[in-house]
Amino acid sequence: MDRVFSGIQPTGELHIGNWLGAVKNWVALQDQYECLYCAVDLHVLTAKYDPAALAGRTREMLVSLMAAGLDPERSIIFAQSHVPEHTRLMWFFTHVTGVGELERMTQFKDKSQRMERVPAGLLMYPVLQAADILLYRANRVPVGEDQVQHLELSREIARAWNAEFSAEAPFLPEPQALLTPARRIMGLDGEAKMSKSLGNTIGIFDSAEQIWEKLRPAKTDPARQTKKDPGTPELCNLFTLHRHFSSAETVQTVDRNCRTAGWGCIDCKRVLSESINSEFAPIRARGEALRADPAQVDRAIARGAERARAIALDTMAGVERRMGFLPMTGQG
Ligand code: TRP
Repeated sequence: MDRVFSGIQPTGELHIGNWLGAVKNWVALQDQYECLYCAVDLHVLTAKYDPAALAGRTREMLVSLMAAGLDPERSIIFAQSHVPEHTRLMWFFTHVTGVGELERMTQFKDKSQRMERVPAGLLMYPVLQAADILLYRANRVPVGEDQVQHLELSREIARAWNAEFSAEAPFLPEPQALLTPARRIMGLDGEAKMSKSLGNTIGIFDSAEQIWEKLRPAKTDPARQTKKDPGTPELCNLFTLHRHFSSAETVQTVDRNCRTAGWGCIDCKRVLSESINSEFAPIRARGEALRADPAQVDRAIARGAERARAIALDTMAGVERRMGFLPMTGQG
């Protein structure tokens, strides 16, 4: 069976941007593939971060993923730092990766430009990402558009490593991107991409009241200055959300009432608020159950790491042998 790997940085709780852009699709992929999903806490070191918050955020992300419907029985859900082989394989990959290629990565160029001192880890970011995937010999990687370049580099690393160390029968598969169907969703302010730190999004654990409080002031089609002005749904960010969260029938009703000014934006927001609330109600309930039983969460996280590590050690044995390292065969 094909194997899926994907990772998400542990920013804390998931929000509708991550949900629509990634995790909803990850849930669906569990029916088709053997899946590994990872909170990539080591990637956090490529930028400034708060060590006092890291552990809590990593745990919160894993809880969010499980609440969202990633099933720790079927899939392997774990923290990257719990499997030390990620960084070990990254080092091995530096042998087949050119600094020039890394400097040409769009994300590196964007992020490094704004820094006066560029941490070496930022340059290595995509090498660690390649190690994440290839450590499990995963061949499918669900990602958004912005990660396509990094995935292409992972393929090049696999190709270069195979050419040098296992030319006769390639040991590492070249992973393929599974492009996430949802396009990027704008924040509720209609200005920036959704992010928790900008406060322009809705968290998967937000209550019905919190969802409503966030939607009420959200930006809509600017042509609708008053309730009487007809609008164009395609120009409204909230219509995009309706298409993701509301039934086909509701989407039609919204479309008609926007164009004819039958509804004011506030009416449309009420309906959207209900749609989002009903999609997240079961997620919220699972989140509460998980929070009520922290020992169960601890066990699931440990078990995820254990299952991931078993695959990782097997890959590393194959990698180390092909790269010519001295095996440790004596008894300690
Ligand atoms: N770079 C990815 C992002 O920002 C996160 C990530 C790290 C990842 N390692 C990965 C994604 C491996 C897919 C596979 O979204």
